[in-house]
Amino acid sequence: MRAAILDTNGPLDSVRIGELDAPSMRGDDLLVRVHGAAINPADLKVVTGKDGAAFLHAKNFPTSFGFDFSGVVEAVGRDVQGRSVGDEVFGFLAYARSTKQGSFAELVSVKPNTVGDKPPTISHEEAATAATAGCTALQALEEIGRLQPGQKVLVNGASGGVGSYAVQIASHLGAEVWGTASAAKADFVKGLGAACVVDYKTAPLADIGEKFDVVLDAASMSSFGKVSGILEPGGAYVTLLPSLGLLTGMLASFFSSKRCGVVVVKSRTANLNRLADWLRAGKLRASVDSTFSLNDITAALAAQQAGKAQGKLAITVAAR
Ligand SMILES: NC(=O)c1ccc[n+]([C@@H]2O[C@H](COP(=O)([O-])OP(=O)(O)OC[C@H]3O[C@@H](n4cnc5c(N)ncnc54)[C@H](OP(=O)(O)O)[C@@H]3O)[C@@H](O)[C@H]2O)c1
Repeated sequence: MRAAILDTNGPLDSVRIGELDAPSMRGDDLLVRVHGAAINPADLKVVTGKDGAAFLHAKNFPTSFGFDFSGVVEAVGRDVQGRSVGDEVFGFLAYARSTKQGSFAELVSVKPNTVGDKPPTISHEEAATAATAGCTALQALEEIGRLQPGQKVLVNGASGGVGSYAVQIASHLGAEVWGTASAAKADFVKGLGAACVVDYKTAPLADIGEKFDVVLDAASMSSFGKVSGILEPGGAYVTLLPSLGLLTGMLASFFSSKRCGVVVVKSRTANLNRLADWLRAGKLRASVDSTFSLNDITAALAAQQAGKAQGKLAITVAAR
């Protein structure tokens, strides 16, 4: 199969397009022909081998990489029920050291309980962008943040992949949403439904002068200690990256009514189908800044690294 290939860890331009064996498939797997994929910050770590890459993907070179995908079921394992050849599905591969395949490739082999039904109203590229980012936002807000309708949320890093889905999802769940972003992206975040956008470069979170029930630190640049003063009693600080600051925050939260937690996102059918329903109904918009062909994967990775995108960058793996 055609794939973006890593022969070893290195700079972004060491990625090449070539042929790899299709992933092996067990009786409880689905083989999915990938049409759309999406870039995540984790892809940069997997390519360079830095920043905890060993926990995200196996080092079985030559290897493909990439996590988010949307495509069509090409083969169904003999033990699988409820899925048929031709089903359109989306999801993401596990962020795990056991992951030996990638979505920047024509085929992925996945468990049925890790995919959802792709909404028929949007493209495969759009669906792929909702997989990791949408599930992370949903799991952070509901499962760790325990967000309730009528509450107030601050999304730090609201213009990014996770943040752009989090602003929309929190609004849809009935919260008042504030966001932080660089000044140039403030209008984009307002367009997602944020009531107020704060420039993180000029105003530290602690100085916002408002109280929140949930602070979702999508940028993972702050800490429980820094935002504790702007959390309501019983409120939650949720980050996306484990760190020493997270451990300190979790310890401090034992002596407080306020909570501190981290999300480790999982691809689950129930979450994906919920996102798909909202996308189909137009209650959630896929957050795509631009789309690159698989041949231009290095340019897409460089664009992610440059941080200029509003929302997500998508990849066309095979035109449909
Ligand atoms: N734990 C998990 O399961 C999980 C899942 C998904 C992602 N993640 C991690 O979560 C992080 C965000 O992912 P993403 O896909 O949203 O990344 P992204 O698309 O690159 O977005 C990053 C965002 O951070 C903002 N930002 C940069 N510096 C900031 C600062 N000093 N203060 C506040 N905001 C700042 C950027 O704003 P501007 O562009 O406006 O400057 C941008 O909106 C990454 O580290 C990723 O690896 C973890």
